[in-house]
Amino acid sequence: MSAALPGGRALSAPLMGHETEPTLFELSVSGRRASSFRTSSLPEWSAEELVPAELLAASPVELPEVSERDLVAHFTRLSHRQYSVDLGAYPLGSCTMKYNPKVCDEAAAAAAFAHVHPAAPPSCTQGWLELLVELEEQLCAITGMSAATLQPAAGAAGELTGLLLMRRYHEARGETRTRVIIPGSAHGTNPASVTLGGYQVTTVGTNERGGVDLDSLRAALDDDVAGIMLTNPSTLGLFEEDIVEIAAAVHEVGGLLYYDGANLNAILGIVRPGDMGFDIVHLNLHKTFATPHGGGGPGAGPVAVSKHLVQYLPGPRPVRNSDGTFGWATPEHSIGRIHSWHGNALVLLRAWTYLRLHGADGLLAVAEIAVLNANWIKGQLRGTYDIPYDRPVMHECVVSAETLERETGLRALDVAKRLLELGFHSPTVYFPLIVHEALMIEPTETESPQTLAALADALLLIAREAQEAGEASAAKQAPRTTPVRRVDEARAARKLVATYDQRP
Ligand SMILES: Cc1ncc(COP(=O)(O)O)c(C=O)c1O
Repeated sequence: MSAALPGGRALSAPLMGHETEPTLFELSVSGRRASSFRTSSLPEWSAEELVPAELLAASPVELPEVSERDLVAHFTRLSHRQYSVDLGAYPLGSCTMKYNPKVCDEAAAAAAFAHVHPAAPPSCTQGWLELLVELEEQLCAITGMSAATLQPAAGAAGELTGLLLMRRYHEARGETRTRVIIPGSAHGTNPASVTLGGYQVTTVGTNERGGVDLDSLRAALDDDVAGIMLTNPSTLGLFEEDIVEIAAAVHEVGGLLYYDGANLNAILGIVRPGDMGFDIVHLNLHKTFATPHGGGGPGAGPVAVSKHLVQYLPGPRPVRNSDGTFGWATPEHSIGRIHSWHGNALVLLRAWTYLRLHGADGLLAVAEIAVLNANWIKGQLRGTYDIPYDRPVMHECVVSAETLERETGLRALDVAKRLLELGFHSPTVYFPLIVHEALMIEPTETESPQTLAALADALLLIAREAQEAGEASAAKQAPRTTPVRRVDEARAARKLVATYDQRP
């Protein structure tokens, strides 16, 4: 019997009868044999016997015809249009787009880890459980916390988890609190998570040094406040100088301190959120610890807590048993599950590998070099770009094109687009919202001094071009060398048109 396939191909095989000997299948293309294979057991029915005649296809199915070679060429071509951390500097502030050691990916791809079924009993997964317990212990050591859940699948999921812990803590004390305080410079996920967690957002102002305005904070504090969410260093890249006073003031009204650890890269081995007075900390493993942070995932946002919150952590959690083996346990007053099984297990494995690879000294070096690089870039740009809060920064710096815009028409968006032509990914622009024409640059610790110098030169060149040519400067038309030129981004986000590009 043979079946016609599109493109003059035919599949032939004896489909009827009992087969005691292996049966030969042949795939022929335009009458010539292309491949064959044998099988020893075949069904006894014809297609006509199995499927009602009126449902049988009258003509061959129109399947797309693409050879493997063409397919590989297509995806390779697409990958060449892509910009990535493996290709060059990616100074996207607040995102920590650093280079990640390939050995972390190799570990995550190892069959011994990747092929384990999440439902396998603890007796078969002692290695996995030990690794997760070790990771939790290391994250607690880094943050100065007592225990952590590894379940949340991203920073924002960690934020929601932390807010649910906050709620459970106050409920257990017979309190109903409705407000959470957030500084004006906060990342957008903070107010979103507060709302999702069932609280109202109270925003506090920023002082002239870029920190939380203490008067504004004190005025907002009362016994209705469940807590404050802070990232330190802040999204301005500045260390919160008054953190001890802030912690004391919030604790005094019975509130908790939530640390958004997305900026942890800056403080590894230098200072611990627990010592600053924080009660709840989420970490973005996909920024600080080795998982590439592109395309929205996958991520992991473990939440570490101080002693008085451990009983509320999500469960089940991997634990070390008293006899030295590993198992699962759910805390007595757990808020319940946040993620199925082990969380985003392979992201956790990458983080464990990264931590083992660096050790305490290596992690300290990560933070020190990240901070050095950000301060160096800021120093190069001073005098050309505005520096809104000009004091030493941590792992990222926020500069502004406000004066350039006034004098030459060059906007932060133009700078970002022209940088693409010059071989760099853009920094974050227009964030934090409290800085006009903001450019938020996070060089990370993995870029070489040569790359940093080239990045600074490019940013200075763009400003010079605008000073010389004004509205006629190259930046106004940029990017001219990318597969897609400048788009109306607000419209593109709201009216997405996905098309298939057939160019070779
Ligand atoms: C300061 C800050 N907080 C929270 C988040 C949210 O993290 P995620 O994107 O993993 O949800 C980010 C992400 O960029 C961030 O920069």
